[in-house]
Amino acid sequence: MASRNATGGYDPSGIDLDEWEILESQLEESIPNYDRVNRLMTFGQDKVWRKNVREHAEPGMKVLEVGCGPGSFAEDITGVDLTCLDPSPEMLKVAKRRVDSARNSRGESPADYVQAIAEAIPLPDNTYDRVFCLFSFRDFQDKEKGLEEILRVLKPGGQLVICDAGKANWLHGFAGRIWMSTVVQLMARYVTKKKDHPWKGLAKTYSHYGTNRYYRNVMKKVGFQKVQGRLLLPFGMASRFRGWKAEK
Ligand SMILES: C[S@@+](CC[C@H](N)C(=O)[O-])C[C@H]1O[C@@H](n2cnc3c(N)ncnc32)[C@H](O)[C@@H]1O
Repeated sequence: MASRNATGGYDPSGIDLDEWEILESQLEESIPNYDRVNRLMTFGQDKVWRKNVREHAEPGMKVLEVGCGPGSFAEDITGVDLTCLDPSPEMLKVAKRRVDSARNSRGESPADYVQAIAEAIPLPDNTYDRVFCLFSFRDFQDKEKGLEEILRVLKPGGQLVICDAGKANWLHGFAGRIWMSTVVQLMARYVTKKKDHPWKGLAKTYSHYGTNRYYRNVMKKVGFQKVQGRLLLPFGMASRFRGWKAEK
């Protein structure tokens, strides 16, 4: 496990276990206001980004969302055989209620739910046509291990799509950190009506997060092919990474 201490506090490839446990409790605390703060802090762009990722799936595909959170993405993906994975039982409880109710209203069967971390996915090899990670990759403790596991469960020719906060380079990251530590904090305070809200801690994951080039290289190292990773326009607030598992 990579340690932040080993790199003087900045280690884009990993989060120490104690920090990750604190992060998980902050994420759970964010559930009641999660969607509203996201909408505000991205000027509504999160909806556009989710749609962009959804469009990578085709009807009938087997899809795994890693880090499904409260189901903000999973509830709107239609016509697929869906599995939602998250380490937090609290997140899974909310996701199940929300996602299965949406699926039921469309006449679809319930999704499957798995409590696990990306770094140890308790699912068989070569199973999924698509794996999606929306705003969860940044939270993996060990990103390289998580990517290895995702590659293992993808079918040959299957695709991974990651959407997360954008960090094109050091300068863009610096601007992002200012945004996260000022405007986002004010918005979260306004929505939660609390001085001590979970977004205080959540902003830290952005500080420790790596650049697009860094993760493109990790994806290639792990074995993904045709790897792409770039900012999503027009605002450049999010990045999208794509990579394929080799055909047999
Ligand atoms: C910010 S939420 C994202 C929710 C949702 N995917 C969305 O579209 O908004 C991040 C989620 O990642 C999960 N997570 C954190 N560490 C993880 C890991 N190592 N493996 C898988 N999921 C993880 C958290 O429990 C949390 O529910």
